[in-house]
Amino acid sequence: MHGLLLACDRILSTSPPETNSAAMPSTETKICHDITEAAECLRGGRLVAFPTETVYGLGADALNVSAVARIFESKGRPTFDPLIVHVADRSWMEDLVTDFPPLAQKLADQFWPGPLTLVLPKSDSVPDLVTAGLPAVGIRIPANPTARELIEAAGCPVAAPSANPFSGISPTTAQHVMDGLGGRIDAILDGGPCAVGLESTVVSFAAESPIVLRPGGLPIEQIESVTGPIGRAKSDPSADDSAQAAPGMLSRHYAPAVPMIVTDSQTEPTGSLPANAALLTWGRQAGADPKLYSVIRNLDPDGDLTRCAAQFFAALRALDAANPDVIIAHRFPNQGLGIALNDRLQRAAAR
Ligand code: TXA
Ligand code: MG
Repeated sequence: MHGLLLACDRILSTSPPETNSAAMPSTETKICHDITEAAECLRGGRLVAFPTETVYGLGADALNVSAVARIFESKGRPTFDPLIVHVADRSWMEDLVTDFPPLAQKLADQFWPGPLTLVLPKSDSVPDLVTAGLPAVGIRIPANPTARELIEAAGCPVAAPSANPFSGISPTTAQHVMDGLGGRIDAILDGGPCAVGLESTVVSFAAESPIVLRPGGLPIEQIESVTGPIGRAKSDPSADDSAQAAPGMLSRHYAPAVPMIVTDSQTEPTGSLPANAALLTWGRQAGADPKLYSVIRNLDPDGDLTRCAAQFFAALRALDAANPDVIIAHRFPNQGLGIALNDRLQRAAAR
């Protein structure tokens, strides 16, 4: 750890966020750029946030139970919510899973490294805490080269949820991680902004037929081009969250502090809006009249969904920070990355 302290060039903040300062001892959080030092830190059982192509992950050695326990503690995350295990290449999976069905392998052939998590029957080497007691483990090979080099250098599979306090907005820059978890984790490896900007698509092979547990950065249409039509887990907002098929399906998630309302992009709002309303939109929308809003964020004036996804969480944070009375968010077309974007909107708006 001492080496990391020397290698880290900037200290942006060392105080824990006020909300949890009583619950957690304060830790000095470093932003660093040195992969070898960050890997040493992981090997020493410490928590290191790192960039992936989807969002920043909060990493710990997946085989070290006390390090994994600190992930849950620092995020304030319930232990019924399993963690994704990140590996550098497929050879690492031999120790982690007991079955890798041919269809899952086909998806891996096509989309790894990349924003796809495969849930497969776990071996005894994977601690139960990682999978929240489930018999299957989520595995992913990230496309971001910094992430893969870090995992390779650490030499251990890396358990990593998104690096944000539980139920908050996912981080797509090192500063976002610092804002949410500064003072609670050991280091943040700064690799610049995340290219995809939405979490991985999670496909489970734990039951007889594969099923999409969470739409994400790999469009479902691309998955179906390999698997054929595939089932999608239904989330039931009225169900107890601990009973949901996947914790990514928690009804309230990715949530800003201010209330959010999701509307059809083509229609102007009916009724009166609060004086201080913010708008999150895309493309050129009929409902984006600048007179109605104190602040507008247009994710991409051409409505390109890839660019919208890359900007989405940062824009949601910026609108939240502007502290409007309400955020109005325009729904996306329900196809490609629009499916995952709409999923995030719906959960961000849930109260
Ligand atoms: O892109 C991503 O997936 C990012 C980066 C860091 O890799 N990680 C991420 O982790 O979004 P997290 O913990 O925020 O979301 C993990 C999702 C949850 O929806 C969880 O239910 C699902 O993956 N998941 C993980 N392991 C699972 C398992 N064994 N069975 C079912 N679902 C699982
Ligand atoms: Mg998350």
